[in-house]
Amino acid sequence: MRYFLPLATLLLPSILASPLSTRDSDDPLPLIIWHGLGDSYASEGQKGVAELAEEVNPGTYVHIVRLDENPDNDSRATFFGNLTLQIEQVCEDIAKHPILSTAPGINALGFSQGGQFLRGYIERCNNPPVKNLVTFGSQHNGISKYQTCGPVDFVCKAWQALLNGNTWSDYVQSHLVPAQYFRTTDDTTGAPSDEYLEHSNFLADINNERKSKNVTYAKNLAALDNLVLYVFGDDTTVVPKESGWFAQVNATSDEVTHLRNRTIYKEDWIGLKKLDEKGGLHFKTTEGGHMQLSDKVLKEAFGTYFSPKVSSVWEKAKPWVEEVIEL
Ligand SMILES: *[C@@H]1O[C@H](CO)[C@@H](O)[C@H](O)[C@H]1NC(C)=O
Ligand SMILES: *[C@@H]1O[C@H](CO)[C@@H](O)[C@H](O)[C@H]1NC(C)=O
Ligand SMILES: *[C@@H]1O[C@H](CO)[C@@H](O)[C@H](O)[C@H]1NC(C)=O
Ligand SMILES: *[C@@H]1O[C@H](CO)[C@@H](O)[C@H](O)[C@H]1NC(C)=O
Ligand SMILES: *[C@@H]1O[C@H](CO)[C@@H](O)[C@H](O)[C@H]1NC(C)=O
Repeated sequence: MRYFLPLATLLLPSILASPLSTRDSDDPLPLIIWHGLGDSYASEGQKGVAELAEEVNPGTYVHIVRLDENPDNDSRATFFGNLTLQIEQVCEDIAKHPILSTAPGINALGFSQGGQFLRGYIERCNNPPVKNLVTFGSQHNGISKYQTCGPVDFVCKAWQALLNGNTWSDYVQSHLVPAQYFRTTDDTTGAPSDEYLEHSNFLADINNERKSKNVTYAKNLAALDNLVLYVFGDDTTVVPKESGWFAQVNATSDEVTHLRNRTIYKEDWIGLKKLDEKGGLHFKTTEGGHMQLSDKVLKEAFGTYFSPKVSSVWEKAKPWVEEVIEL
């Protein structure tokens, strides 16, 4: 694949532009994957997931999102950077990518924070448009606590001290990635805090929580075929884990308010209600702690949501069915 790519990159636009070529409806859509905190696009884990996607749906072109071609710098960008700029960069890369940009649509797979960042891509750019987004252990309703550090992890501790003291400063909001999806609420009313609404550089915007709502965000999310939200049953890294379902959790009583009972859904700020009403919103649980993924779970997800078969079987049968109906 590695050697094939440059050639395909050169040839594909001209093949697709030729009037004789048509895309086979059996071809799976390309897949983009956005990895999680600390990972890089070139890691063994990401390569394994890409191979699995090709195995389940042969012919899948996989692109792993990166913010830098240097893997160390790509990994660094999961901790440091301004998400507005990071998402803009990914939007540009994908829009000018020779293979992705010529596809009629793409599928998307987000691991942990990569899940809400792909939602950012869909809401703000969506060019080419995403058809199915699957997220594993993501923080769609933010986090209310930062991950705990190991006892001798001094870098982590120093980083946390900075976050805890200054989460809402402009410096932290434009430099430390997890701070941009940190979310605080009022203990008695459950409403998002004023500081969060005023300073959150990513989540408050992408969830349309501020007074002025961006209708494009809602339109783009509602246009998905499927949004599939996996939560890890024993996740202790993401607090609260139900954030992966857009649920709200009372930090004192642990009471969980399901998305369907929240204002973001009832007033349909980001299109989730519309998507749910057409059967496109799926809440799933998978066993294990944060990102303890088995091939079995991934294969199931790829086979169910990224397979071209489901629609193409119907496409092929349709003329025949219509003929029978006419007779
Ligand atoms: C990685 O980032 C550092 C710091 O920004 C920069 O000096 C270096 O050139 C980058 N490396 C590559 C290969 O891009
Ligand atoms: C809403 O988001 C779209 C896509 O990012 C952007 O082009 C547009 O300017 C935004 N509209 C407002 C009112 O901010
Ligand atoms: C992040 O970058 C955007 C675009 O340059 C800028 O408008 C915004 O102020 C930055 N965010 C913060 C919190 O500095
Ligand atoms: C959260 O739970 C506590 C303890 O049960 C309760 O007093 C408080 O009103 C709850 N907050 C919300 C927003 O429901
Ligand atoms: C929504 O709230 C109502 C009333 O508290 C409750 O009966 C219902 O089960 C909740 N729905 C979901 C999906 O949690």
